[in-house]
Amino acid sequence: MSSDHRLYAYLNEEFLPLDSTYLHVSDLAIQRGYGIFDFFKTQNGHPLFLDGYLGRFFNSAQLMGLEVPLPAEDLKASITRLIQMNGLGDSGVKMILTGGYSENGYNPGPPNLIMIEQPLTLPSEAQQAAGIKIITHEYVRELAEAKTINYTVGIRLIQKVKALGADDVLYHQQGVVSEFPRSNFFIVRADNTLVTPAKEILKGITRKNVLELASKKYRVEEGTVTLENIAQAKEAFMTSTTKRILPIVEVDGKPVGNGKPGEVSLELLRDLIQLEEAQTSRE
Ligand SMILES: Cc1ncc(COP(=O)(O)O)c(C=O)c1O
Repeated sequence: MSSDHRLYAYLNEEFLPLDSTYLHVSDLAIQRGYGIFDFFKTQNGHPLFLDGYLGRFFNSAQLMGLEVPLPAEDLKASITRLIQMNGLGDSGVKMILTGGYSENGYNPGPPNLIMIEQPLTLPSEAQQAAGIKIITHEYVRELAEAKTINYTVGIRLIQKVKALGADDVLYHQQGVVSEFPRSNFFIVRADNTLVTPAKEILKGITRKNVLELASKKYRVEEGTVTLENIAQAKEAFMTSTTKRILPIVEVDGKPVGNGKPGEVSLELLRDLIQLEEAQTSRE
């Protein structure tokens, strides 16, 4: 945990110094890894696309049988207050809803709601220009539509990803691709059609924004993407709140397209940055 005393966190309607915000060890998040969360970013103190993230947070809670202890409007007011107290400008805000304090280490209790805000570093221009290398792994996330706190497989694969000189790992099942542990996946076909997996995924807010932006210029499809489709693709990229659009230049040691970040990916990245800036100036 950060030792920055200036930062505050939110815990069950209280605003506390981040360094002294604790949950009891009986929480089901600790005992059984049971809970959900969501994560959005702020620019110049403004949350970006907040309604989308809040909608997904409530949906994840419902899918896991957890009740968010306050209505969306009150949650928004607490988010605004936390952002004001911390005064970070550009940041990432994580909202976590846990299984609650459990009497027997298994049955859920009333959920605990936590919010923490920390500085956020987005990929540099150099990283965008270089693109990333990825490997693939056969796995489908359980309850993929929910943003649960279970990242067991992704975290266990960190060492393998590093050992193979890669940056991330793409999940597939029998060659049908779904998503990354923390990002969504797109390919650009030779005819400039964008395709992104429709099933067994968390519906990313960045994915949604990119689909909207791309549909103004290109054909877009939410459908099936196979490893074979990637081998034929002109471009590929990942999307997430923290990565925006990150071009993928290599999959399992083989180049994607010409092995360089593609024009469509980089153009959409510029469009996305503009959309984010428009949000900030509108609010
Ligand atoms: C499993 C998973 N898929 C996709 C995403 C990307 O979603 P977003 O664009 O809303 O950050 C995330 C975000 O952390 C994720 O955890």
